[in-house]
Amino acid sequence: MEDLAQSKTPPQETSQTSPRDGVVRDHRILAWQGAGADERHMTRKHSELLAHEKWSACWKVACKVVEDCGIIVLLGSRGNGKTQMGVELIRVACSNYEPTEDELQYGTMRAVASYTRLRDLHMTIRQAYGSAPKISEKDAVHLLLRPHLLVIDECQESSGSKDSDWAAQTFTYILDKRYGLMRPTVLIANCNKQQFVKLAGSSITDRIKEDGGFLSFDWPSFRGVK
Ligand SMILES: Nc1ncnc2c1ncn2[C@@H]1O[C@H](COP(=O)(O)OP(=O)(O)OP(=O)(O)O)[C@@H](O)[C@H]1O
Ligand SMILES: [Mg+2]
Repeated sequence: MEDLAQSKTPPQETSQTSPRDGVVRDHRILAWQGAGADERHMTRKHSELLAHEKWSACWKVACKVVEDCGIIVLLGSRGNGKTQMGVELIRVACSNYEPTEDELQYGTMRAVASYTRLRDLHMTIRQAYGSAPKISEKDAVHLLLRPHLLVIDECQESSGSKDSDWAAQTFTYILDKRYGLMRPTVLIANCNKQQFVKLAGSSITDRIKEDGGFLSFDWPSFRGVK
C-alpha cells in the first residue's frame, strides 16, 4: 500500500528491481495517476489514516465490499474522511493491478479505477447531447462502465431542476450495468441513510443489499485539527 507513490511523482527504481517489475510498477503508477483523484487525497500517508479507530474499522468493511464487487455507500457530514477512503480504495486497486503480458509488451492498460463527482458524471454524459455532440451517449456511458472500480463522490448533489428525471435514470442505469458486470462501485454522499435511500431510489438501494452496505461516518471533521 505505502508502496504506491504517496506523491504524484514515481519513486526512483532500486537496483534490485527486475526490468519486468519496473514496467509493472510503471503501469500501476499510471493507473493511479490517471484515476482522476485530487492531489490532496493522493498525497496522504495510508498508515496515518488508519490511526483513527473508527475510520480504520470502516476501512476494513469497505475493502471487503470492494473485494466482493458490491456497492458500498459512505455517508456522513463534512470533513470526516469519506473522499479520502474512496481514494484509498483506488490506491489499493492500482497497487494490486496485474498487467497482462500483452499490456506490458504494447504499453496498453485496462481501466483499473476511476474517481468522479456525480456532477462530472452528468457532464460526461451530456457531452453526447446538443447540436454538435463530441461523443455518443453509448461511449460516454462506456467510460463509466470500463473501470473495474468506480468512486462517485458528492452523490447528494442533484442535477438541478428540469432534467432531474433524466439524471436519476442515468445514475440508476450506470449502477445497474456495473452491478451486472460485477464491478465494485463506491458512492459517497453528505447525508444520512434515509436521505440517501430517497435520492437513490429503490432499484439502487435493493442492489446495495447484495454484497454491499452503508457506512456512517459519524465522528467530527478532520479539517482544522492538527
Ligand atoms: N483517517 C484520517 N485521519 C486523518 N486525516 C484524515 C483521515 N481521513 C481523511 N483525513 C483528512 O481530512 C480531510 C477531510 O477529508 P475528506 O476530504 O475525505 O472528507 P469528506 O468526508 O470527503 O468531506 P466532505 O463531505 O466535505 O467532502 C482531508 O484533508 C483528508 O486528507
Ligand atoms: Mg468529500
